[in-house]
Amino acid sequence: MAASGSGVMGSGYGSHSAAQHAGLAATVGMLDRALSVVPVPDGGRAFRVADLGCAAGTNAMEPMARTVAAVRARRPGTPVWVTHTDIPGNDFGALFATLSGPTSYLGGPGVFGCAQARSFYEPLFPPGELHLAWSSIAVHWLSRLPVPVDGHVYGPRATGAAREALRGQSAADWADFLVHRAAELVPGGQLVVVGGAATDDGLSGAEGLFDLALEQLDELVGRGELTAGQLAAMTVPTWNRTAAEYLGPLRGGPLAERFRLEEAEFVVLEDPMWGRYCADGDLDAYAREVSASFLAAFGPSLFAGPVAVGPRTVRLFADGLTARVKERPEQGAARWRIELLRATRR
Ligand SMILES: C[S@@+](CC[C@H](N)C(=O)[O-])C[C@H]1O[C@@H](n2cnc3c(N)ncnc32)[C@H](O)[C@@H]1O
Repeated sequence: MAASGSGVMGSGYGSHSAAQHAGLAATVGMLDRALSVVPVPDGGRAFRVADLGCAAGTNAMEPMARTVAAVRARRPGTPVWVTHTDIPGNDFGALFATLSGPTSYLGGPGVFGCAQARSFYEPLFPPGELHLAWSSIAVHWLSRLPVPVDGHVYGPRATGAAREALRGQSAADWADFLVHRAAELVPGGQLVVVGGAATDDGLSGAEGLFDLALEQLDELVGRGELTAGQLAAMTVPTWNRTAAEYLGPLRGGPLAERFRLEEAEFVVLEDPMWGRYCADGDLDAYAREVSASFLAAFGPSLFAGPVAVGPRTVRLFADGLTARVKERPEQGAARWRIELLRATRR
């Protein structure tokens, strides 16, 4: 698995990221508070923003528009320059389509957008360059999978030594992320992160859905569509950190000398797809949407990572997952946990 990051999204992610969008709604207040205190440069110099882990950019358009408006309200005419970053395998074509589409924050004078294809666990900007570093629903993707997860495809279901190895990788990645952002932000610069999280029992809220996915993969092995070896090599390389894992490095130790933790909030999201199903009772639509969203977010890790399978297998997986969600709709609902945090570069 590529050491530079392994969480690339599927091409349908832009139109199947409602759950991630719900996560962002919770962050609006935190972003606004960051924008009210962040230093805005004078002398016509640009306000620099990073959107870290952008995917197709769909969910970045609102927060970036908010950023442009807030910066301009504080210092009219300030140029704003946003760099959207992701790993090289990301669909940057989809990002550029979003940037030139109707929801884009670009368009007004003095607003610039560009992209960079490099992991956020590496340096991305020259020292002291950024005013705002923003990342949503991305930092729970690990830079690499340290060991295979025996008996499951989902990191949070790992047990024993594999669990400890994932926890260790996650701690090292989070420290790298913070070290690089500390170097890149100006003094007073703001870091706002919405990260995939877990309650203290280690659960992310999507384990039931992943169990359904595993059942379907097991069935495909039984039918000879996949080999047991292929299934054993499939893992979604995520680690949903607990609040303590996110906040610990910002509360003490060398990183706490570089960042001041301003606020943090742990949120359990409702599943918007489940909410729609409860309102309209359309089980077919719900099951199809859950399956499509799962494939958009996790299909590439499962089917185009170390194991590459053909479109027929992917279709059989999607159809089977849809059928399983129809049989057990409640289990298909994911109540994702997220950690919101804001820190100031000292
Ligand atoms: C669930 S998507 C979130 C996208 C978007 N920020 C949103 O809020 O909808 C996670 C994104 O993080 C990216 N990602 C995963 N690991 C990464 C890394 N090491 N560096 C940069 N981006 C990464 C993935 O490629 C993917 O585009």
